[in-house]
Amino acid sequence: MNILTSLEIGYKKLKKIHSSYKIDSEILLSKTLNISREEMLLNLNKKIDQESQIRYLNFIEQRVKRVPVAYITKDKEFWKNKFAIDKNVLVPRPDTEILVDEILKLLKKNDSKCLLDIGVGSGCISISILKERKLCKFIAIDTSGNALKVAKFNAKLHQLSNRIKFFKRGVDNFYYGKYDLVVSNPPYISKHKIKYLGDVIHEPKIALDGGCDGLETIKKVISRSKYLLKNNGKLVLEIGFNQKYKVIEFLKKKNFLINRIIKDYGNNVRCIISTKIK
Ligand SMILES: C[S@@+](CC[C@H](N)C(=O)[O-])C[C@H]1O[C@@H](n2cnc3c(N)ncnc32)[C@H](O)[C@@H]1O
Repeated sequence: MNILTSLEIGYKKLKKIHSSYKIDSEILLSKTLNISREEMLLNLNKKIDQESQIRYLNFIEQRVKRVPVAYITKDKEFWKNKFAIDKNVLVPRPDTEILVDEILKLLKKNDSKCLLDIGVGSGCISISILKERKLCKFIAIDTSGNALKVAKFNAKLHQLSNRIKFFKRGVDNFYYGKYDLVVSNPPYISKHKIKYLGDVIHEPKIALDGGCDGLETIKKVISRSKYLLKNNGKLVLEIGFNQKYKVIEFLKKKNFLINRIIKDYGNNVRCIISTKIK
């Protein structure tokens, strides 16, 4: 069997399930062959050995069961870097790159600021920022010990262990330090809606479940950030597509000034930047 035939098998099996069937098959085969997707597509007639065929077909079968590609390949590109991923962390989303982009606009190249990441997951947000702002430091918390293991691995992978400190802690029990900026992509899906979102069935519930109205953790993050931020410190929040008004109302109630509201690639409000005022 050659590369082209293998890809066609993958396309056919995945087409019924995912609109991303082509790219998924290509990523899974290039991972199997341990070559780049570009190199693979330039060598469509190249034969692949039997062991690789079996491994690739196994990957495709996992994808048929809706396992995210990143859980199969064990990695994911985010911002400008590759992150190790496993089933204990949310697969980093392209929309979350908006937070990184916005935070980099707030931080000058030579700023030496102390930042807090609430719900660090794989570490994709904080590690991406630290790679671009060499004098900044992060504290990162998560309630999931298994997620923290992945984040620590990624910090080591990117040689940043000396600039990011991790705590296994829920946001409502975190009282350490005062920060120039807090970032959080908290769980924000209503617990009743999770079961209807087929695409997330394999991802950790703790990373998705925002309680009955989806706002439980967001509210905790805002309430604690009021004390964790220095005066004039920034809070950068990722929110769900229908949460804008409620989140803004809560921020104002807690005396935050709304600075910017940013839409995602699907034109939904995804990120709110606010300032803690006295
Ligand atoms: C939506 S995921 C975001 C992960 C990562 N920051 C990203 O953007 O890909 C939310 C993360 O928050 C963590 N989490 C859930 N409840 C929390 C809480 N009360 N305090 C701190 N972290 C929490 C979850 O374990 C999960 O890793």
